Amino acid sequence: MRPTWAGIHLDHLAQNFKHLKQRIGSNCEYLAVVKANAYGHGAVPCAQVLERSGIDWFGVAIPEEAIELRQAGIRKPILCLGGFWEGQESEIIRSNITPAIFLLESAVLVDRAARNLNTVVPIHLKVDTGMGRVGIRLENLSEFADRIRELKNLRVEGLMSHFASADDPSEDDYTNEQLNRFDQAYALLSAKGFQFTYRDLANSPAAIRHPASRQSMVRIGGLLYGLYRDILPKDLQLPELRPVLSLQSKIAFIKDVPPNETLGYGRSFRTKRPSRIATVPIGYHDGYPRALSNQSTMIVNGAFANVVGRVSMDWTLIDVTDIPSASVDSNVTIIGIENDLSVTAEELASYSQTISYELTCGISPRVHRKIIADVT
Ligand SMILES: Cc1ncc(COP(=O)(O)O)c(C=O)c1O
Repeated sequence: MRPTWAGIHLDHLAQNFKHLKQRIGSNCEYLAVVKANAYGHGAVPCAQVLERSGIDWFGVAIPEEAIELRQAGIRKPILCLGGFWEGQESEIIRSNITPAIFLLESAVLVDRAARNLNTVVPIHLKVDTGMGRVGIRLENLSEFADRIRELKNLRVEGLMSHFASADDPSEDDYTNEQLNRFDQAYALLSAKGFQFTYRDLANSPAAIRHPASRQSMVRIGGLLYGLYRDILPKDLQLPELRPVLSLQSKIAFIKDVPPNETLGYGRSFRTKRPSRIATVPIGYHDGYPRALSNQSTMIVNGAFANVVGRVSMDWTLIDVTDIPSASVDSNVTIIGIENDLSVTAEELASYSQTISYELTCGISPRVHRKIIADVT
């Protein structure tokens, strides 16, 4: 088997959840966002551990992700943050999935399916308070609510919204404005007689930085996976959170290269000294971004080795000249901690002009996920 794999440290996931509960408090419920295969970490094992650790809800993007969780035996409520597409309405009811509703057409579809199945379906209304993505705009909310009230097989259980830039202190005024608009939406709907068990809009950075946003539930993704260095201000570190994912490989080939040789596609690196160059079986098809060419480092036998030349589809070169013990089959830490050294997903993301979420989400199915420590 190709020795390139992602270690999924489920013990860290459980500990992260515990730390977050201590930090954020017990006045609200916790929804774990496990969409996008739990940001690349593997939705089913992550959800199983979180369910055993006492999570209240799960959040997914699409019904297919929720159905996968149900088929794996997940029983806690699942909120489908992105609603659903026509034709999926009966299945979400049968699989006990709670849809976020922001389109009247979806509400009508799910109401009709609920009537056919002789049931009443809980829904969460999603209002757009300034994200500008999906959500009912405030000026349309009154009319929307009146129409929803006519749909007798729906029960409005939650009111939700989503922040645009809760991670950015220079945008705090905007975040507060979004909170104001959420309060306005809540007041308008309450005045019409709607009652909500759930009011939620806090994502990871809001739950930490904006206590007023916690309301009755927080929806946390990144922090659970130990990704925080690029979504929280630098002075607000949470060192107790540990990365859930590590990325490992082994040297496949090693060679001596004289000075003044070029390496890889585009010849973007030229050796300046007699060099030992190792080939690592990971490339951009695995989710190791091409933008890391000549930018990042890996750890071999307790020392950093620079990535040299372009990252290609399946292979990446590293310079191990200063690591004499490096040989074929030496372990390579691509993301992770080895003794005092570490390479974080956040660092790799910043070298490639993105965020850690995109990096972990992008680790492709070709990279085997290995559960490192299961939690009973
Ligand atoms: C609607 C919604 N809520 C919550 C989250 C969780 O965000 P975070 O991972 O920053 O906690 C997301 C993630 O994109 C989301 O789309």
